[in-house]
Parts: sequence; C-alpha cells; structure tokens
Amino acid sequence: MKFIEELNNHENQLIEKLRSHPILSGLDRLTNQEFEHLLLQRRFFSLNFTPVMEHVLVGLENQEAKKIIGWLIREEYPHYAPSHREDIVSDLMKIGIPKNKILTTKPTNRTQETINKTLKLLEYEENFDIKGTIVARFIFEVCPGEEYELIVKELERRYGMKREDSVFYWPHFKHDKKQNQATDQLSHSDKFSEILSKIIDSENKLLRAKQILDSAYEIKLCFYNQFLEGGSYV
Ligand SMILES: [Fe+2]
Repeated sequence: MKFIEELNNHENQLIEKLRSHPILSGLDRLTNQEFEHLLLQRRFFSLNFTPVMEHVLVGLENQEAKKIIGWLIREEYPHYAPSHREDIVSDLMKIGIPKNKILTTKPTNRTQETINKTLKLLEYEENFDIKGTIVARFIFEVCPGEEYELIVKELERRYGMKREDSVFYWPHFKHDKKQNQATDQLSHSDKFSEILSKIIDSENKLLRAKQILDSAYEIKLCFYNQFLEGGSYV
C-alpha cells in the first residue's frame, strides 16, 4: 500500500472516532444552554486559526504548502466581504445568542489548554514540513469539516437554521470537509493531498505522520471531553 493511502486510512479512522465522540454524536441530547456553551467555546478554537497558520507559514520550507497556507490565511479576511471572524458572530447571533454574550464569554481553562497544546504540538523543529502541514490541515480543515457537518444538522433541527441562513458553519462545512461530495471544487482539506503524497515518501515519515495525527486528534478529544457530564464548565 502506498504511504499516503495508509496515512489516509489512519486519518479516516480518527475522523470516525471523533464523529462518534459522545458529545458530537449526541448534540441533540444537550440543552440549548449546553449546546450554545459548546459553540461559544468552539469559537475560541476558530479564533486561534490565524496565529497558528502564520506560525506554520513561516516554518514551512515546501513552497506549495506555503502557497496553500498563505491563501487560507487571506481567505479568512476576504477583501470585499466580512471576515470569517465576523461571520461566526453573525451565525451565533442568528440563533439568538446576544452579541454581548458572545463577545464577553471567556474561554474555559480546558479550551485554553487545547489552544496551548496546539501551539506546543507545532513547536518548530528541523524538518517542520510534515508536522506543520499535517497539524494545520487536520486541526483547521479536516476536523472542522466533520464537526460543522454535525453542527449544521443540529442548528437546523434546533433553531430551523437553513443552509442559506448560515454564513459561517454551512460554508465551512462545505469547503473544509475531506473528499466532500457536496462541492465540485477541491475542499481546503483536499488541496493538501498532492503535497502530502510527495512529502510522506518513506516508512519512517509515515510513522512520524501517524504519530502527529494522533497527537492532533488528542487535542480535539481534550476539547470535547470538557462537555461530558462532570466536565469543566468554567
Ligand atoms: Fe477552511
């Protein structure tokens, strides 16, 4: 089996595990207050996108990967449209969360911990390309595609928020998700496929890539575990 196929299979297993996490697979069991708390905390993880991507951008040597990361950062702040940061607030306000609450909520200790762990995982080291590319893609494109797919279904079920009403969750689900059938363009996750198949070219690199993916997955688990019964709400 080609290295990239093996990596892909490994990643798909992690995706399935993430989707079956009791919180993500049971969003409909949360109260409105709990669900909104989750969305407000998840926003802090999204806000971390730019500093992490900028850190990855300067660390990378691979010019193709740099082009994609640079493009993703600029996409976050389009020239003639609201930024993704404004879009997420718009969606949260549309489901009835007051702007004041969105902007005065603080990250929980656990949310802050997951942000710190992401930065720690991405600490610069020699041969940074594998780590930088895999972590940036998995944490900020592959996982959001899966998380938002589940979240948009819940937004529709709970608040009647339709695809055309959403400027953040729906578009991100569509353009981030790995191998998304809902779009005819390469998703943000899939833009990295060719680069990954070039840089994962030995058994050792494959092993390293799998370990990095596992650590990135642990960060996502750490974030969602906080919402389990008895988890920290402060
Ligand atoms: Fe994206």
